[in-house]
Amino acid sequence: MAACSASIVTAMAVALLFLAAMASSELTHLEHPVVDGEPLRLLVVGDWGRKGGYNQSRVAQQMGKVAEEVDIDFVVSTGDNFLEDGLASVDDMGFHESFMDVYTAKSLQKPWYLVLGNHDYRGDVLAQIDPALRKIDSRFICMRSFILSAGIVDFFFVDTTPFQIKYWTDPGEDHYDWRGVAPRDAYITNLLKDVDAAMKKSTARWKIAVGHHTMRSVSAHGDTQELLELLLPVLKENDVDFYINGHDHCLEHISSRDSPIQYFTSGGGSKAWRGIFRQNDDKLEFFYDGQGFLSLELNEKEAHIIFYDVFGHALYNWSLSKANLHKVQSSARVAEE
Ligand SMILES: *[C@@H]1O[C@H](CO)[C@@H](O)[C@H](O)[C@H]1NC(C)=O
Ligand SMILES: *[C@@H]1O[C@H](CO)[C@@H](O)[C@H](O)[C@H]1NC(C)=O
Repeated sequence: MAACSASIVTAMAVALLFLAAMASSELTHLEHPVVDGEPLRLLVVGDWGRKGGYNQSRVAQQMGKVAEEVDIDFVVSTGDNFLEDGLASVDDMGFHESFMDVYTAKSLQKPWYLVLGNHDYRGDVLAQIDPALRKIDSRFICMRSFILSAGIVDFFFVDTTPFQIKYWTDPGEDHYDWRGVAPRDAYITNLLKDVDAAMKKSTARWKIAVGHHTMRSVSAHGDTQELLELLLPVLKENDVDFYINGHDHCLEHISSRDSPIQYFTSGGGSKAWRGIFRQNDDKLEFFYDGQGFLSLELNEKEAHIIFYDVFGHALYNWSLSKANLHKVQSSARVAEE
């Protein structure tokens, strides 16, 4: 009952906030209702929509089990929601076959907050972000870039596909739907300004950025230079704790040598096993070249991250104390002065 009424409240809040967002050029700001003093729990999955194939259904089953055990608040998707070519329209049966018919567990009947990946941009992007999909399945909250406040955590969802220059200059056989995005430079300038302003306004204990593309990765796609140059300085400047992405079909944790930011890749929602490993110049903490997903729990003091595989085994269990992080940061600042 509680979960049910919470999602009705969410749906209403989403509807109201859409109206508010239309009145200004700022990013849409959603609130996820939370119970004061309760930790926030969520799952993160990416690169999944293959009509159940390539073990998408098996990963979905394990997500259902974990979501039930920890009683999650919501699910985050890091994009490439519908492979290979996004959705063709709001009536595309892929929406049923790759989403509604796959994530059927009762515990996953919570809001899903989704960003778009490069494969989503190969379909009709306006269809995938059309609120009409919410009438078919009210869980599906997909937008280009938006803010989600959930008590002690603010999530900053960033549309990273337009950053990659090669999709514009060298698309090959692929067609990208740039309606509402082109020209690239103006779009990115405005987006970075809006993200920076929203982060500066945020008073949340934790700040988490979510995008499709890798910032740091040791797998097939490697680091995304455009994001390191353009988005990373904004995250550093605003003391963002984590950047969570998909794009590489694996599970990764990489920590930064020059800032407290932690990078997590959760892109193992279906097809995986690329067999590529290339070390970059940051610090690799964990890499699994296979299917799975991430579970995240946050309270005032600590964050807990667990990566699960297709069997539901916990592969990696990592925690961070917010108090320690602050101490490290402030003593570094004192040392500089
Ligand atoms: C699905 O998972 C099973 C168990 O790990 C594995 O044997 C199989 O190769 C996987 N299939 C694909 C297509 O990845
Ligand atoms: C993760 O580690 C914590 C303690 O460090 C432990 O309490 C918890 O049971 C572990 N969770 C899993 C799923 O292994």
